[in-house]
Amino acid sequence: MTVSAPSTVALDLRADFPILGREINGARLVYLDSSSTSQKPASVLAALDDYYRNHNANIHRGVYVLAQEADALFEGARARIAAFLRWPAANTIFTRNVTEAINLVAYSWARTNLGPGDAVLISEMEHHSNIVPWQLATQATGAALRYLEVSEDGTLSLDQLDRELARGDVALVALTHVSNVLGTINPVAEIVRRAHGAGALALIDGAQAVPQLAVDLSEIDADFYAWTGHKALGPTGVGVLHARAELLEQMPPFLAGGDMIATVEAQHSTWNELPWKFEAGTSMIAQAIGLAAAIDYLDGLGMARVRSHEHALTAYALERLRTLPGVSVFGPPSADQRGGVVSFALAGIHPHDVAELLSRTNVCIRASHHCAQPLMRRLGVNATARASFGPYNVAADVDALIDAVADAQEVFAG
Ligand SMILES: Cc1ncc(COP(=O)(O)O)c(C=O)c1O
Repeated sequence: MTVSAPSTVALDLRADFPILGREINGARLVYLDSSSTSQKPASVLAALDDYYRNHNANIHRGVYVLAQEADALFEGARARIAAFLRWPAANTIFTRNVTEAINLVAYSWARTNLGPGDAVLISEMEHHSNIVPWQLATQATGAALRYLEVSEDGTLSLDQLDRELARGDVALVALTHVSNVLGTINPVAEIVRRAHGAGALALIDGAQAVPQLAVDLSEIDADFYAWTGHKALGPTGVGVLHARAELLEQMPPFLAGGDMIATVEAQHSTWNELPWKFEAGTSMIAQAIGLAAAIDYLDGLGMARVRSHEHALTAYALERLRTLPGVSVFGPPSADQRGGVVSFALAGIHPHDVAELLSRTNVCIRASHHCAQPLMRRLGVNATARASFGPYNVAADVDALIDAVADAQEVFAG
């Protein structure tokens, strides 16, 4: 059966991403690993270059012109990013990545608010970064850690959520917005509403959502929403935690030193105002400025267009993969329920061999447990092959993936 590229695959942004102009062994780069990290548009590279070339100075300390420019760029970046997701800038904290943002909550909030008799509810589809911090926090406080199951179609059950919440001990529900393996888009606004109805707080891991969905935090209403810059076309080394002001006010600092301080006496200190109370040491100034440039780029495209483009690519990839024999795809059957990621297995070929064979034609996919070992156990596999899309992918990238997978099958058949 022949499947032709859908006309809805509308964007062609490759020229905006310098790295995609690279050829390796005379062949174009087919980058299908955006769930790991995204490629960066020229405007982000230019923002980083401009900061270091023209405005580099430490922030929040200097009165000279460079320092004031650096301040304005850094705090402007925070304001820009907060406005994009519709959350106040004062409760928008820069961290190194989403992992650190979740750890901030697990150390500062969980260790002072959880105790025996409380529970943290996560799910089987979480990334290790939204599992291990809760293992450590519940072990430290005597609270329980419970899991929502992943159903056969790769979704979570709201009925099971209600049953867990009805037990009356859940203090925090901590779930991913979009699964980095299955692609499942969880109904986070509804989950937060139900958690709040049962007196629990909600933390959402938005690492895979912010790059590809129109995320409105004022609608989702989570107590904590965390994400990471490098997956959203921004630089590495910057993540974001959006949180409720009243919680942040009550929480003790996470890391100590530098910008998070107001006064220091010999035996005690007082803390800076929000958001700086949670930003210890010299901040990731250039990275925050670069991330704001990435957000400008995404906003310029329009998140509705980004979503419909990646939806079309995902639908096309699912359709074409299903035409190949011996391919099983994990996660929701329809692209409507998933983000731009397709995890799959080929009968009789180890996922690492698939990735290795594909890399021979510059098709870059990931084969691993994707930092989701509990989910791998749920799926009954050690690893999956995973192709994931960014706004810069085109239908020809899906075609290259399918050709390379068919070739890999032939190599193993012969
Ligand atoms: C859903 C999810 N959460 C957390 C992370 C961890 O991101 P980082 O390494 O930037 O902290 C990832 C990265 O793959 C992810 O996909």
